[in-house]
Amino acid sequence: MAGDLLITNIGELATPQGSAGVRGKDMGRLAVWKDAVVLIRDGIIEYAGSPEGLDGESVADLPVINAQGRALVPGFVDSHTHFAFAGYRDEEFQWRAEGLPYMEIHRRGGGIRRSMEATRAAELSDLVAVGEKRLWTMLGLGVTTVEGKSGYGLDMATELKQLEAMGILADRSPVSIVPTFMGPHSTPPEYEGRTSDYMDFVIREVLPAARIQGIAQFADVFCEKGVFGIEDSRRYLQAAKAMGFGLKLHADEIERIGGAGLAAELGATSADHLLKASAEDIGRMAEAGVVATCLPLTAFTLREPYADARGMIDSGCILALASDLNPGSSYSQSIPMIFAIASLYMGLTIEETLTALTLNGAAALGLADRIGSIEEGKAGDLVLLDAPSIRFLAYNVGMNQVVATIKEGEVVYRG
Ligand code: NIG
Ligand code: FE
Repeated sequence: MAGDLLITNIGELATPQGSAGVRGKDMGRLAVWKDAVVLIRDGIIEYAGSPEGLDGESVADLPVINAQGRALVPGFVDSHTHFAFAGYRDEEFQWRAEGLPYMEIHRRGGGIRRSMEATRAAELSDLVAVGEKRLWTMLGLGVTTVEGKSGYGLDMATELKQLEAMGILADRSPVSIVPTFMGPHSTPPEYEGRTSDYMDFVIREVLPAARIQGIAQFADVFCEKGVFGIEDSRRYLQAAKAMGFGLKLHADEIERIGGAGLAAELGATSADHLLKASAEDIGRMAEAGVVATCLPLTAFTLREPYADARGMIDSGCILALASDLNPGSSYSQSIPMIFAIASLYMGLTIEETLTALTLNGAAALGLADRIGSIEEGKAGDLVLLDAPSIRFLAYNVGMNQVVATIKEGEVVYRG
């Protein structure tokens, strides 16, 4: 994608600024223009700001969108999803609604293992088809970059199949895809009771194969009591780091076992979930520059207390928010719900939430120098809202505000 586009008559242009993740109080400091224009050439933002700053002559024959006073924000970056899965687990949703805990279902062989069975059974073309549908939904919600994890194969062939599906989709969909290898998502039945042996297999065989295949950029692990402990997680992440992967962790989601501290120790790009992370480990993450990614839709779905995102910002963390779209703990990709929950239940301002879903999401993917803000030199990934102000993103609870999604200067969705 690479288009030319002039957007005029923007009633409110709001964006974080910079080429790295934003920390602490700076998350709330957006650049805001009332009455603005944006000029994109060859997919890259050439100018953003007040109309007076633009040379009228040089833009005469560009395609134009008149925003008619609407608000414009950067394309959303959903930096944590498991979108390339097959099958559903709607019956588990009902069991949880009736009070059965997520980990109890996991222990009984449900949960991730059910999705593993469905994903192993799926053809590559099935995964591509279902993934493509989800990506179109994302575009309609203003998501222009998404991260997607493997982890529903738990064997060589299916882990690579999930990554391959994402590789195919990257060529087919306007949404930019950042694939992550997550072989250690759960112990498969073949290794029942032998979690460390499975981890050996992943480190020795699957991780190198994923590397050679060249699609996955990050390596992730479900570092959790009863899934993969600190020691297995550490040696896996060290091996991944030595192979050149960026590191991510599902850390301290259900029990506090120190995953957040491990992320800081290893210089991970992000640690995610963090519902039970200790204040001390959060401080270490802030110091180490590890992006703290909170996943409000998961806490909502599991009826767990939300992560202390406010405390993380106040501790100087780079905070990102993401959907965690997956068939179990968060079967949702609702950006509008994230805005509402962050504002109403997590103590974030609308400005902080916007930063968390754009520039800081980009930082969680190592892309903050290229996407995540509306600034000269960045990709022309933009979202036009059917509202005069970014406040509507939270205020109009759970409702999609997106009227147009623009990817590298091309309109890829119109509401
Ligand atoms: O991020 N926490 C671990 N993994 C996913 C859930 C996966 C599943 O239940 O299928 C998550 O919540
Ligand atoms: Fe997840």
